[in-house]
Amino acid sequence: MDKNLSIVILAAGKGSRMHSSKAKVLHSISGKAMLYHITKTAKELSDDVSIVVAHQALSVKDEMAKYFSDINFIDQDLQNYPGTGGALKNYTPKYKKVLVLNGDMPLISKDALAGFLDSKSDIAMSVLELNDASGYGRVVIKDGEVLKIVEQKDATKDELDIKTVNGGVYMFSSNVLDSYIPKLTNNNAQGEYYLTDVIELAKKDSLKIEPILVDEHEFKGVNSKLDLAQAEVIMQDKIKVKWMENGVVMQLPSTIYIEDSVVFEGECVVENGVKITGDSKIINSHIKSHSVVEDSLIENSDIGPLAHIRPSCSIKDTHIGNFVEVKKSSLNGVKAGHLSYLGDSTIERGTNIGAGVITCNYDGVKKYQTHIGKDVFVGSDTQLVAPLKIEDNVLIAAGSTITKDIKTGSLAISRTKQSNKDGFFYKFFGKK
Ligand code: UD1
Ligand code: MG
Repeated sequence: MDKNLSIVILAAGKGSRMHSSKAKVLHSISGKAMLYHITKTAKELSDDVSIVVAHQALSVKDEMAKYFSDINFIDQDLQNYPGTGGALKNYTPKYKKVLVLNGDMPLISKDALAGFLDSKSDIAMSVLELNDASGYGRVVIKDGEVLKIVEQKDATKDELDIKTVNGGVYMFSSNVLDSYIPKLTNNNAQGEYYLTDVIELAKKDSLKIEPILVDEHEFKGVNSKLDLAQAEVIMQDKIKVKWMENGVVMQLPSTIYIEDSVVFEGECVVENGVKITGDSKIINSHIKSHSVVEDSLIENSDIGPLAHIRPSCSIKDTHIGNFVEVKKSSLNGVKAGHLSYLGDSTIERGTNIGAGVITCNYDGVKKYQTHIGKDVFVGSDTQLVAPLKIEDNVLIAAGSTITKDIKTGSLAISRTKQSNKDGFFYKFFGKK
């Protein structure tokens, strides 16, 4: 934490290139809004973090309030002062050094910003060398000195060929902002007050401008849905590399999706096509192909293939097989091998759930609980109509519809008796 550093994150823009009614910075990467990721990084570096808002300001503030308690929100006057320069009109930093970040840059880590924090120049600015520079501001350099930044829409044909682009992150000393923000004009293709014009103004006054070469894997700006998908791939790779380095086995990692907040412990295997989201914790477990685990604890268990563990489950010492859906349930030492729905239930050690067992937890109005005790054998194709309490050591016959509680040691059976009628087939179809 740098006690002399203020950080401001620009997040007020419309993001029209996203073609979405949702604010650009609220589009999610690995399960959280883009703005969440950059704010988290900022909070690791400074105790004075501000976010500039305007477009959908309320939604943006509400979303951030879920995660951060001490952010200063600055309202931008988007009508009169649009643009990244306009965003800083109402901003007053607490400290002398100001790091400017963008809400549409979710990939930046704390370490990637070290060069900016160490800089002694009046201005340090990020530059990227790209083969495809489209969408970025071009950096005009002469004799090794940065002269100015030209936005794509204002660039001449020659300037469009420049492959050195503005990464959009800057470190300013606060008096640079004090002097030049009021001097910005909106005399350009977009009619906006560009923060990037500060560079040219400062250069004319012979201020020291230090370009810092950065990597697109950290400094990619997300302006379109295509950028969003590409940034997601980069973020996912980082998350998965981290867990593989910590000992998690991943088969075909490019097909696996793991959110930022997921945690692994011990020996875990994740097969191809798996999706794990939210605050899931996976301990010494094997998640097989194409299973989905949401916001749940999985410990000493194997899940799938093709299983769906929905939020708020605690699954320990358990085998969950294919086409099993579990929701808001606690399973401890259970086997549920095939084709079941287990919702709002607690199931205890030694219990076997046969194929096709369904907890009927919803009557169309309310949800009800099912409790199944220890060493219960639930025969295949059984419907358990909740609320229900099944005590320990119970045998439920296959094909039963259970509507009443069952006492320990009992057999429960509820199905019509079978009757076989000799020769019926031949009479019915008129065959011999
Ligand atoms: C900006 C830079 C460009 C750079 C690129 C890097 C300017 C003029 N251009 O372009 O040189 O290559 O970032 O990614 O700065 N915002 C506001 N208020 C506004 C407009 C934007 O807060 O009035 C916020 C946006 O929400 C966004 C950030 O500023 O988070 C950047 O705006 P965006 O429109 O994405 O700028 P770019 O065109 O990407
Ligand atoms: Mg951008």
